Amino acid sequence: MTDELYTRIVYDGLEAPSIAALPGMKARCIIVDGFSKTYSMTGWRLGFGIMPRELADRVGLLLTHSIGSTAHFTQFAGIEAITGPQDMVAAMVTEYQRRRDVIVDGLNSLPGFACQKPQGAFYAFPNITGTGMSSDQLANLILEKAGVALLPGSSFGKFGEGYLRLSYANSIENIEKGLERIRTIL
Ligand SMILES: Cc1ncc(COP(=O)(O)O)c(C=O)c1O
Repeated sequence: MTDELYTRIVYDGLEAPSIAALPGMKARCIIVDGFSKTYSMTGWRLGFGIMPRELADRVGLLLTHSIGSTAHFTQFAGIEAITGPQDMVAAMVTEYQRRRDVIVDGLNSLPGFACQKPQGAFYAFPNITGTGMSSDQLANLILEKAGVALLPGSSFGKFGEGYLRLSYANSIENIEKGLERIRTIL
């Protein structure tokens, strides 16, 4: 199963090829995708799967009995999103890339932070071991004292310890404000 929700949000002219495109893999893959990221339709609860026909028939039965069906107006919105003009997607990716550069540069200027540039999606994942705090401690401190919500890397498993995760699906103005607030409490 390959979750390809972020494949269209890639930067620096890169591409995120699907494993299903490799020779012989199409029949062995289930691609799951949706509208939340590419079309900013988070909360619409609409997604789709691409899989071999025999499997699709069985998954269709399962979904019918587990969720009934997706609201019909939401499905029409999804059709519009996929079949309509796609220039907004490219414009959004360009904007996300600008935001990425602002947040990564800002994080790297904070004491004890070291952040690599992500090549896709919209999350920065800085290493914060230089602050001397655990990711839980720092995430709580930043929430309580700076009013900035982010996730401790440890919430992604033990190898996430020592990192924070910040979303940059927000305006540059707010990103800069958030970074400044974090800077004042470090
Ligand atoms: C990798 C990945 N897959 C799937 C989802 C689920 O998206 P949704 O249920 O909003 O369509 C998310 C949401 O954050 C995600 O990050």
